[in-house]
Formats: sequence, structure tokens, C-alpha cells
Amino acid sequence: MSAKYQITFAKNARADEGLAILLKLAGDLPPAGASTADPAGVFAKAAGVAEFSGKATSVLDIVAPHGSPFDRIAVIGLGKPAALVAHDWLRAGGLCAAAIKTASVAVVHADAPGVEMDGEKVANLALGMLLRAYSFDQYKTKKKDEDDKEVKTVNVTIVTADPAAAKAAFVAAQAVANGVNLARELVNLPPNVLGPVEFAARAKELENLGVEVEILTEKDMKKLGMGALLGVAQGSAKPPRIAVMHWKGSKSKEQPVVFVGKGVTFDTGGISIKPGASMEDMKGDMGGAAAVTGLMHTLAARKAKVNAIGIIGLVENMPDGNAQRPGDIVTSMSGQTIEIINTDAEGRLVLCDALWYARETYKPRIMINLATLTGAILVALGNLHAGLFCNNDELAGQLLAAGEDSQEKLWRMPLSKEYDKIIDSRFADMKNSGGRHAGSITAAQFLARFVGDTPWAHLDIAGTAMGSPSSEINQSWGSGYGVRLLDQLVRTHYEA
Ligand code: BES
Ligand code: MN
Ligand code: ZN
Repeated sequence: MSAKYQITFAKNARADEGLAILLKLAGDLPPAGASTADPAGVFAKAAGVAEFSGKATSVLDIVAPHGSPFDRIAVIGLGKPAALVAHDWLRAGGLCAAAIKTASVAVVHADAPGVEMDGEKVANLALGMLLRAYSFDQYKTKKKDEDDKEVKTVNVTIVTADPAAAKAAFVAAQAVANGVNLARELVNLPPNVLGPVEFAARAKELENLGVEVEILTEKDMKKLGMGALLGVAQGSAKPPRIAVMHWKGSKSKEQPVVFVGKGVTFDTGGISIKPGASMEDMKGDMGGAAAVTGLMHTLAARKAKVNAIGIIGLVENMPDGNAQRPGDIVTSMSGQTIEIINTDAEGRLVLCDALWYARETYKPRIMINLATLTGAILVALGNLHAGLFCNNDELAGQLLAAGEDSQEKLWRMPLSKEYDKIIDSRFADMKNSGGRHAGSITAAQFLARFVGDTPWAHLDIAGTAMGSPSSEINQSWGSGYGVRLLDQLVRTHYEA
């Protein structure tokens, strides 16, 4: 059952039937009776019995506390107050949401002793709750019958000294939560339900937030000469789309910030067909496009002061009688020709036309693409870092810092002339695969041939967009990776 959190902020909260969550810091237990939620000192006693010291991410759960007006009291450990960073508040929020379990009323005491609280921290706590609360269960029909309600509403009151400040900061937090959860949803949806046309329709819905959305059809792409993208699409019964999402949040004359996403709604590999094991995971091969769409949602919903454009290339890679073959040579929109070596290296073919289109049409100030591009990035980095490839040290530095702040981490990988040579082709300008060695790097070199001198970064998110281990703030297969990272980047460097 998924829960919808109705979050309000207050200076005090009446003890209601439901659950109280107190935030607790390491080694700093309040004396018995000191807390309004713990008049009889039950919590101090329980902490002693359970040897709970408030270590980060530890939770003390007390059921039906004697003498307390609450059904349960959960105490969330925060660790050492001095060491707390923004992400710790997200994790604490995630633990709060987990502690709520089936309760439909919850009171969260956000002001922890020894911590200087502000609106930002409280909002991050709430954000962590909203991220943790997301679950993808709309196809579980049995569960639905039992609960006979699709979504349960949980009323959460967050108690804090300055509720007005928290409420103000919460507007942006909610925008982030909805953007991340939208990206997760798009990744989780099955490929029979979410094809290129349906994905484009989801992008179009951002118009409700004031985003201008333009959809390019096959006909438009033919006119533009997008032979690389169309070559991938031709083996599928589902027609391709490109969605262009434009958020004009700034009056500045500055050129736009552009985000480009790989949106392969299913990747069979095409004629170079993939083995059967885990092929179902390839419904997530649109994780880049999902992150871009989620990010555009977030930027618009929080009215970010930025001129930002999201461009997603949406295709399905299938092996029918009209599918492209290894040996085919296609002409990209840039005019450069590509020899197809492996039809499973399709993401770069989609992106090269989308990147070229982005650059030609919008002359971006910076351009960042996200793509579940290579299995090789999983071999190199697992699912703890996404691969960062960048032709500009300043942009790379900004992205690495945003990765640390958001804990959506990046690891920089090399680009060079020597790696670039590997994708030269005997018959065309380049080939779409350089073979197994340095697979993620040669894929990035391929993209680099389509961005010219635009400050550009490519994030290979094949390891991080889906199937990551669950965490305090994520229990979903589709992680929504990239939305918080790039929202952070925009906030820090590209607004005004
Ligand atoms: N979508 C895959 C990459 C991928 C693999 C994403 C695992 C998520 C999890 C991509 O289109 C692909 O098939 N890449 C090939 C490239 C090769 C044929 C040059 C790969 O990585 O094997
Ligand atoms: Mn592929
Ligand atoms: Zn792919």
C-alpha cells in the first residue's frame, strides 16, 4: 500500500492517538518528564534498557508506552550534532517514515536537543519522509482489495520552533520529492505500458506546471535528418518521439542550461540480441530520460530562477524484420556517418542526434546528458557512483561537489584522443562500438563527437538508475538518481 503524507508544521502538537516520533541525539537523553511527548519518562527508561545511545540511523521503537498519550514512540538516532550534514536530515526523515509503519497519524518532534534547527533542516527531514514513502505497487491487485483503498493518507505534524520557516522551505522540498518520485515511477512502469508515445505524453503533462513542451514525431525527425535515432527505432512497432521541455524561470539573457536523456523504453539489444537473463531490467533503459523529466518537474514546481531545457530521445530497441543490422551505415543529423557494429550499442545513437539537436537549436551554456549507457560502468563502479565524463574541468568540479552534497555520487572517468581513435571506422566516420575494453569510455568518446566545444558532461547511470540497494530514503527499484544531483547543481551555480 502506498501512503500519501499530509505534512503540516506546528509549534506544539496535541498528543493524539497515533505515533509520536522524537528525534534523539547521541549521548544526550532528556531527563525523565522533560519532553511533552514523554511525561512519565518511559522513553528514558526504555533507552536505558535497550542500550540506545542515539547513534546515527539507530531506532528505538517503544510500543504502547506506559503513561504516555501516544500509541508508540520511536526515537531516531542522529549521531553527533556537530557532524550533521544536509543528507543526514534526509536519512533521518526516511527513518521517521519507516517508523510510522501503519499509523495514520504521526507527530514528529524535529527539534533535537543540541542541534541548531532551521527551516532548511526541517524541510530536508520532511523530504526524506516523502522519498521513503514512495512505493510502486499499483499492479499488486490482491493487496489493493484487502485495504480497499488505493492510497492511505497519513497525517504528519512536524513540531518545530519556527514552523513558518519550515513551511517556506518545504515548498522546494516537496518539488524535489515529486520530481524524484516521478522519475522512479517512469523507470518502474512496465515497457508495455510506457512506450515512447506514452512517455512523451507524461512529459507533456509538465505543461500543468508552466513548462513549454514540444513533441517531435517521426516525421519531424526525418525532416531533421536524425538517421542515427531513427535507425534504432525502425525495428520497433512503436514509433519514436523526442520531447523538449522548456522551463523559462529566469529573465536573464544567459543561454539555457540543457539536459539530455536517453529514453530507450525497452532495450532487447535489437538484432545483436541480449541474452535472456535479466533482460526484463531493460525496461529501465530510459532512466536518463526519467531523471531529466523528474528534474524539469522539480525546477518548475519550485519555480527555479533558471532557463532550463530538458530533451529526451524516446525509442524502443527491437529486432523485427525492419530492424537495422550490424554493417548498416547511418547518417546522423550532424552529417557524420556511423557504421553499426552492434545494434545493442543503441543509446549513443539516440543521444548523438538529441545532443546535436540541442546544441544547434539552443546554443546551451552547458549541456549535461544522462544515460543508462553501458554495462561496463557497472563493472567499473558498481552502483555506488555514476560515471562522469566531462570536457570542462569547472563543470566537472561543480558536478562532483553536487554529487557529494546530494549523495548521488559521481566518479570522473577519462576522455582522450587515444580513446577516441578506437571508434574510428574502416567504412564510415565512426563505428558505434569500440569493443569490450574501456567500453564506457569509448561510448563517451562517441558522444563527445557530437557536442563540439559546448561545456558538456555525460553521466553514465547504468549502475545507479535502477536496482541499487535500498536505503533510508529509497525502497524503489527505479531510484530516481540524478534529480537531486542536478537540482543541487542548478541551485548552487545556475540560478538568478
Ligand atoms: N542499455 C544498455 C546498457 C545497460 C546495461 C544498462 C546494464 C543498464 C544495465 C546498453 O544499451 C548496452 O546494451 N550497452 C552495451 C554496449 C556494447 C554493445 C558496446 C553494453 O554495455 O554491453
Ligand atoms: Mn543496448
Ligand atoms: Zn540500452
